[in-house]
Amino acid sequence: MIRAAITGIEVYVPDYILTNEELSRMVDTSDEWIMTRIGIKERHIIREEGKGSSFVGVRAVEQLLKKTNTKPEEIDFVICATVTPDYQFPATANIIMDKCGIRNGFGYDLNAGCSGFLYSLVTGTQFIESGRYKKGIVIGAEKMSSIVDYTDRNTCCIFGDGSGAVLLEPTTEDIGVIDSQLLSDGVGAAHLHQKAGGSVKPASHETIDNREHFIYQEGQAVFKWAVSKMSDVTEEVMKRNNLTVDNVAYLIPHQANLRIIDAVGKCLGFPPEKVMVNIERYGNTTSATLALCLHEWENKLRKGDNLVLTTFGAGFTWGAVYLKWAYDPKE
Ligand code: UT7
Repeated sequence: MIRAAITGIEVYVPDYILTNEELSRMVDTSDEWIMTRIGIKERHIIREEGKGSSFVGVRAVEQLLKKTNTKPEEIDFVICATVTPDYQFPATANIIMDKCGIRNGFGYDLNAGCSGFLYSLVTGTQFIESGRYKKGIVIGAEKMSSIVDYTDRNTCCIFGDGSGAVLLEPTTEDIGVIDSQLLSDGVGAAHLHQKAGGSVKPASHETIDNREHFIYQEGQAVFKWAVSKMSDVTEEVMKRNNLTVDNVAYLIPHQANLRIIDAVGKCLGFPPEKVMVNIERYGNTTSATLALCLHEWENKLRKGDNLVLTTFGAGFTWGAVYLKWAYDPKE
């Protein structure tokens, strides 16, 4: 049986750091409120004019190709998870491919809210498992700052910009993506969406005046769904693969709110040292959170380690993936 293994990972965040201190000069908030209610200290923001999500995506992919000694012409496909594409079309994946010299493959974007990276990983896994494709790249790339209303204290403290990219390759060893469960429920659209800019309500003077191009979120509803759905789907995937807190090396949850992460970890019985958390330094980077975690822990991971990833996001979308890490730390 052919499985899809992550054989390399790279990330990129922009230089500019937006601190709680700076935010508290922009809206009525405080470091204390943000740290206790969300657990974020700072986030990275693209400040330069004319740079979109591809700016951070290209850097992650360039670094990934270099690190894994992969030539651009070897890449068969690129899937870019994003809710902040450079343009409505063409796909940001195609823009990233062009800038990285990837011309022998196909690419497209995938929008599954904050679950985009997990959905893309599972989609890429199917291409690899089919036996037809040998090297694929899955990217999460976001410029969340382009859709954040920096006059709305309910949302502006949460999000950050960043990207992560993984290389997927086939293996016949018992490693790589072993199992997954993806779910969605469109009822969630009411609680988390962007009101204008799509085909229902194209951009107009009125939509701009009404500030309808920003993230609209009913935080408490999303919070409750996120805790219960991430816990349930992770429990299901663990159960059917005979995984327990003891034989799982790490739980890697989407980084939306430290209180959500803590609640999910507690519900599943994971001790804090087995839960990857770095929300404090990046905020919620939507499609990039899982890669930012995996990359930060890369040197602690060993070949064969059982990892469980889980996400929840706009749609609503959610899911869990069980993967066995494919390599030991490289020198
Ligand atoms: O990744 C996509 C999925 N998204 C999520 O998972 C987000 C899920 N939701 C959340 O993380 C939380 O609901 C939020 C962080 C968005 C909000 O936290 P909360 O504890 O649910 O606060 P709340 O919305 O219930 O607001 C409580 C109070 C309100 O004041 P009043 O009405 O009680 O006077 C808010 O106006 O906190 C106020 N508030 C703030 N105060 C200071 C909201 N934002 C702020 C702020 N600073 N930044």
